[in-house]
Amino acid sequence: MTDLVLAETVHGVHTLTINRPDKKNALTAAMYAALADGIAYAESNPAIRVTRIRGTGGSFTAGNDLADFAAQGAKPISADDTKVKAPVTRFLKTVSTTKKPLVAQVNGLAVGVGVTMLLHCDLVYAGASATLQAPFVNLGLVPEAASSLLLPQLVGLQRASELFLLGRKIDAQEARNIGLVAQVFPDETLDAEVEARAHELAAKAPDAVRFTKALMRKNHDEIAERMVEEGRIFATQLRSAEVKEAISAFFEKRPADFSKL
Ligand code: COA
Repeated sequence: MTDLVLAETVHGVHTLTINRPDKKNALTAAMYAALADGIAYAESNPAIRVTRIRGTGGSFTAGNDLADFAAQGAKPISADDTKVKAPVTRFLKTVSTTKKPLVAQVNGLAVGVGVTMLLHCDLVYAGASATLQAPFVNLGLVPEAASSLLLPQLVGLQRASELFLLGRKIDAQEARNIGLVAQVFPDETLDAEVEARAHELAAKAPDAVRFTKALMRKNHDEIAERMVEEGRIFATQLRSAEVKEAISAFFEKRPADFSKL
């Protein structure tokens, strides 16, 4: 584990804490790798029953590091973009296939993959001041993590379209109302509330928990296929003028201008 992702196991609960607060916990390739390793470690360790993911400094995560996106966009497409080798791909595959339960603690802003990873978490709790946004189209990109399949299934096509096409930001209460979040807690008590639920789950019969999770998530092939399809379009868009303009605009702190594209 790097300092950018902290790991700690307490009584069967493995907690992964995204720890890059000065960049709102934006995820670099090394951080995706550390998160994937942490979940894989939990999967292989019989003493661990539950993995909890949270962030430091009032952010869950601001999503993929945009400088990393810009650097990837400057390179030609390689097999690593779509194969399991790329850390982000490995992370998404790991969260979507792990057999043990994942608990997400959305302790502040969740952007991009910070939202889409929630679709693979078994229990999602948010602090009252948390906000969720999936601005892929705003960046010239497309959704990933099979979220183009899972989000419309979960919240309906119209709500998913507002979130994905308009990139509309929602608060924790709306996220709960549409079914993205199980419960909202005051920010001050979120950590303790989630910890209590993670330990409650860790004390349950492990096979019964794993079988129940598997029964509720049976569409593995469809999810894997959609991730490949999304990954192909994502890799192409990453090299587009649309993304170049959107990322330049972010770092230049100005609105993006797609009018000439
Ligand atoms: N990638 C790289 N750096 C990021 C980042 C990201 N995804 N999100 C935030 N940061 C950096 C900012 O560049 C800034 O760095 P600086 O202090 O060196 O200038 C720092 O984190 C703080 O961010 P700032 O924008 O000043 O905070 P804010 O509270 O005003 O806004 C966000 C927070 C998350 C709304 C805003 O930073 C944002 O829109 N980030 C991009 C999110 C995104 O598009 N993610 C990818 C989704 S696919």
